[in-house]
Formats: sequence, structure tokens, C-alpha cells
Amino acid sequence: MSREFTPALKERIEGVLAHYPNKQAGLLPVLRLVQSEKGFISAEDERIVAVLLGLRPIKVREVVTFYTLFARKPLGKFHIQVCSNLSCSLSGGEKILEHLKARLGIRIGQTTPDGKYTLTEVECLGACEQAPCMMVNFDYYGNLDPEKIDRILEGLK
Ligand code: FES
Repeated sequence: MSREFTPALKERIEGVLAHYPNKQAGLLPVLRLVQSEKGFISAEDERIVAVLLGLRPIKVREVVTFYTLFARKPLGKFHIQVCSNLSCSLSGGEKILEHLKARLGIRIGQTTPDGKYTLTEVECLGACEQAPCMMVNFDYYGNLDPEKIDRILEGLK
């Protein structure tokens, strides 16, 4: 399947780039646009963005792989990112991850067969005071325990 950018996406990208002194400075918002339109950022998308912004493809790859909010493959409707860094680990983060794996029937990095949930293990989410914590799409959930996770999952639509 072709990953060509639609004229509408190219127009939105040009609109974003108009706010920056040089095209390269707009890399992050451009990648957000691409992900929001296409669901994830493929290697071909990276190459197209590199050409549009006058960057070497490796520069785009470095940014896409550094930020966990960028996906390089299709995600489920709900992307669950569980922190496994120090504060969360010391507060029971591993138990949280094990509970989610068992509850969803998938391993880290997988998506449920119905396409509803993707489970990812990430480094610090910047909410250590709420450890253990996770994000579901762009929402934070902290002070987690298995019962709270069950309630959160049941509330997702
Ligand atoms: S260590 Fe988990 S949010 Fe910082």
C-alpha cells in the first residue's frame, strides 16, 4: 500500500513549516501531523519527511525512535504505555505490567487481535510522583494497582 502524502497533508505540513525560521525546526510538529493522519510513521514516511524538510533520513529516524509517542507500526485504538523506570519499578510497576499482559492476553509490543489495545513498556513518563503510572493515548493514570487498571480499562470506549 502506498504511503504517499495526500495533497491535504502536504498543505498542512506547509502551513506548519511557515511558522519556523527554517524547515528543519518543524520536524516534531510535522511528524505529529503525519502520525495523526496515517496512524503511524513508516520508513517511507520518514523518507518523505526528510525530503520535504531537507534533512538526512537518519535524522528523521533518530527523532522518531527517540520519542515513544511516535509509532513505527500500526497501534491499537488504545495505546497503553507503562513506565518501567526507577520510581515506577520501586512502586510496583512490574506488577502493573504483568497484570496488563494477563488481562489483555498480549506481550509487550503487541496489539490485541481485535485491534483495541497495544501494550508498550516505556522509560520515565515524567509523572514519578504518581508512580506507578501509565499513559493511555494522551491521558495519564497514576498510583496504579490492578483494581484501578481494571476500572480504567472498563471505562475506555
Ligand atoms: S519513573 Fe515512572 S514516571 Fe518517572
